[in-house]
Amino acid sequence: MPDSFVPSPLRDNWYQSSSFYGSSFALITSVDEAGVTSIGPYQLSFPFEVIKRRSWMVISRPSSNTVANVRRTLKCALNFVEYDRAQIETILKFGYPGQLPAEKMAYNTFTLVDSPTPGRTGPGLPQIIGEAFQVFECTLDVDRIAANPILRDSASAHLLLNIDNILVKQRWKGRIDGSGDEMPRVPLTYGFRGGATFWFGEAQPAFKLPIPDLGARHEVVHYEANRIDDGVRFTLEASKQLTGIPRPFLRQVLEGIVWQAKKRGVAEIGPEFLEQLNKERK
Ligand SMILES: Cc1cc2nc3c(=O)[nH]c(=O)nc-3n(C[C@H](O)[C@H](O)[C@H](O)COP(=O)(O)O)c2cc1C
Repeated sequence: MPDSFVPSPLRDNWYQSSSFYGSSFALITSVDEAGVTSIGPYQLSFPFEVIKRRSWMVISRPSSNTVANVRRTLKCALNFVEYDRAQIETILKFGYPGQLPAEKMAYNTFTLVDSPTPGRTGPGLPQIIGEAFQVFECTLDVDRIAANPILRDSASAHLLLNIDNILVKQRWKGRIDGSGDEMPRVPLTYGFRGGATFWFGEAQPAFKLPIPDLGARHEVVHYEANRIDDGVRFTLEASKQLTGIPRPFLRQVLEGIVWQAKKRGVAEIGPEFLEQLNKERK
């Protein structure tokens, strides 16, 4: 007998009071008025703009230390740590509202270190978590928040953060492209449930599957082509002309075209440019 769907009433914080939402989370470091770097865990923390601009959205209760600190200093770092059962209790304690940053730092079991980025240490600039596998260094986009009524007037604080730098540990850097057999083991949270418990989960080891080959559709070519170099755009028409390239060679061919475009200072690749390259090859 299949289970049936029943309605779940909408409540505030519906993602954890009316439904299941499991995801990773960031540990946000920011600096308080006394100059202390503090750590706050945030599950509602996602990539926001991913093409051309690199931004991030954090949704917080408006009275958190993180919100006050970031609004004052404009800076924060999003630290992503791997699953470590021994650290979960510290993370949970960091999530308990009403603690001053100095109180949190008294029981902190993570190592705070200076950012290796030039110009990213000093007053108002947060330290980062040494154990993190990656860190996003961010600046609050005050102007675009003020210009957007949803972000500006929400009952929650919506921190629109521009990502200035992405730092990845050496061990993981070479695996971003999916080479190797491992991914960082991101911890999961399902949030606050039922008034007395906070749920966490452990990710299973990651595995990879080959992308199904549904033929060289021009959308696929277009997507691949336009993520090679921010300074070079392929028009849809150009992508349509490139659908004949066998999948295993696609990336290499596209990179070759981008290389030629850059060499010649061409920012937009249309059919004419491809034709010109074709002619030269003959
Ligand atoms: C794993 C985890 C995820 C959390 N995610 C959020 C969140 O997305 N938004 C939020 O307002 N509070 C969230 N909290 C609660 C905050 O961490 C809590 O408000 C805390 O006081 C924030 O620290 P801060 O005041 O130093 O910024 C989360 C807590 C935990 C343990």
